[in-house]
Amino acid sequence: MTLKHILLGAALALTSLSVSAQENIITVNAKKPGAVIQPTMYGIFFEDINYAADGGLYAELLKNRSFEFPNPFTGWDISGKVILKDDGPFNRNPHYVRLAPSGHRDKHTMIENHGFFGIGVKAGEEYRFSVWARVPDGGQAKLWIDLVDNATMDEDQKLGNVGLDISGKEWKKYTAIIKPKRTFAKAHLRVWGDSKTTTDLEHVSLFPVKTYKGHENGLRLDVAQTLEDLHPGVFRFPGGCIVEGTDLETRYQWKNSVGPVENRPLNENRWHYTFTQRYFPDYFQSYGLGFFEYFQLSEEIGAEPLPVLNVGMACQFQNGNDAHAPATKEGLQQFIDDCIDLIDFANGDPATNQWAKLRAEMGHPAPFNLKFLAIGNEQWEKPYFERLAIIAPEVRKVHPEIKLIGTSGPNAEDDYFKHGWPAMRELKCDLVDEHYYRDIQWYKNWMNRYDDRTFYTKDGPRVFAGEWACHDRGKKYNHAGASIYEAAFMTGIERNADLVHMATYAPLFSHVEGWQWRPDLIWYDNMSTARTASYYVQQLYMLNRGTNVLPTTVSLNGGTPSVNPVEKGQDGVFASAVMDKEKNEIIVKVINTLGKASTVRIDITGLKLKTFPTTAEVITLDCSAYDAENEPGKPEVISPKNSATALSANKGTLSLSANVPAKNFQVFKVKL
Ligand code: AHR
Repeated sequence: MTLKHILLGAALALTSLSVSAQENIITVNAKKPGAVIQPTMYGIFFEDINYAADGGLYAELLKNRSFEFPNPFTGWDISGKVILKDDGPFNRNPHYVRLAPSGHRDKHTMIENHGFFGIGVKAGEEYRFSVWARVPDGGQAKLWIDLVDNATMDEDQKLGNVGLDISGKEWKKYTAIIKPKRTFAKAHLRVWGDSKTTTDLEHVSLFPVKTYKGHENGLRLDVAQTLEDLHPGVFRFPGGCIVEGTDLETRYQWKNSVGPVENRPLNENRWHYTFTQRYFPDYFQSYGLGFFEYFQLSEEIGAEPLPVLNVGMACQFQNGNDAHAPATKEGLQQFIDDCIDLIDFANGDPATNQWAKLRAEMGHPAPFNLKFLAIGNEQWEKPYFERLAIIAPEVRKVHPEIKLIGTSGPNAEDDYFKHGWPAMRELKCDLVDEHYYRDIQWYKNWMNRYDDRTFYTKDGPRVFAGEWACHDRGKKYNHAGASIYEAAFMTGIERNADLVHMATYAPLFSHVEGWQWRPDLIWYDNMSTARTASYYVQQLYMLNRGTNVLPTTVSLNGGTPSVNPVEKGQDGVFASAVMDKEKNEIIVKVINTLGKASTVRIDITGLKLKTFPTTAEVITLDCSAYDAENEPGKPEVISPKNSATALSANKGTLSLSANVPAKNFQVFKVKL
């Protein structure tokens, strides 16, 4: 063999060494399960933004059903003789309409509701029309209710109709079922008087009979199903900025959102005017979806309820400091009462507490088992700290069992944030709510955010990442390519489960015709829903939460194994692992954010088993088509796919090799 051959052989050996050195070796130590992963770890945040409540999750199909909008006929067309009256049977919604004979045979009296971007109806399904009505002059009257398609070329616009007999001078609730013969996303609802008699109508309503869990004042089945399918651990509601209100008058007031639905007063929704380039003058809050319904939904989807209440402050973004309630106990008494009464509404004994009694009257005598309460959203500095310092101790005096959550403001790295955390620590908050809607570069820079235990201390409040999402610009729904960074970031949340106890992506919902803010987790039109790539990222974490963190190191490209493998700014391969003690499973999450495939070897060490499993389940979410989007009504283009891979065992170590494609999120599940 010549020297040339020897050198060539050595060069080849070096090349093959450097090829194998490209492997990412992920070592999971199964011997010592670490921090407990809270059942609340991955959850959802609901705010009435983007037509998330009225026109979205709340199944009511008619807008302005009580004629209480500033323009009482917003959402309605009227013809014939329609008179607005204001001495109706519900004191907090006093308006109603009088349908009177017009005096001419052909001038029919009629009101027509446009719904929310139309009314979506499905052929053969049942829709429950209801109305409070009376015949003010006594006797009998007939109403005709039509679901119509105004744009049809058919002879008859009706998709379905039903008649209703009204009798007597007393206000009564009437109901009738309509079954449309055709599916249509943009129907209107007409209510005709009989042209002979005067009839008064209040709280005109239309719901699908099939709602989530069948509740009459219920939720849209397909939309609520997306939440159930996520399996969230915690449910934060009702905001967000709407908790603060533009001013204190328009803040979300939970007490107005409970009790008979007909008498819940209308509230302004700040998202109707917040962005002048996306203006929705017909966007209000009916409170039909109120605190009882939020608690009920939390229970039904198996999530801990986490209400947010106002701290006596209007939105600081939009107001000077004089827009707030005085920072004294007297000035804040109403806000203190709101907190204490809410806990009683959720958990109290109906025999001894008026708010608990109301809960029982609304159909839920058993407590909702509330454990958390957030006070304030995105507030900052002294005006917030001094108000929370008054409210929190008063709440604790009566309800020491409730965990209180403070906020560190709207940003996750500025001075408000840096001042907020020590203040929340001093006020002994159990958790601090931090928010970060940021771009990809920010996420790359902050992948190790929760590894930093100089800022986040060992003891003291735990982290609640209450609103966060990786943003990019200029597309309709969201970007699969941005979602991969959300998946990568969540390895840092999971790895630091001793510190982070909750994380909720935001916003949750958006109507394709009514959005103010994007990206969002779930989109819908009047007929169907779309689950985004981010939805599937969240779902993969929720379904594979585990019970304990497993110490994991990654040796990137043959480098030194590290617990925190990711250097600030590095765009690479991310991993975390958990043990699920209940299911006896080890779950390893691997995210390749690179633009090329990565070879990965996973070694699970420290196992003492009689027989070693030979295969692992693999779930893959491919986010490589950067702009891939699932759209309502169209086949999904991005969703998790299942497969299996071989495992090899050697002296208590289980190993698998994988080629993780570019921009892919893979979950490896090993059943022990
Ligand atoms: O999620 C939209 C808004 O973002 C929330 O209302 C607010 O808390 C944050 O600024």
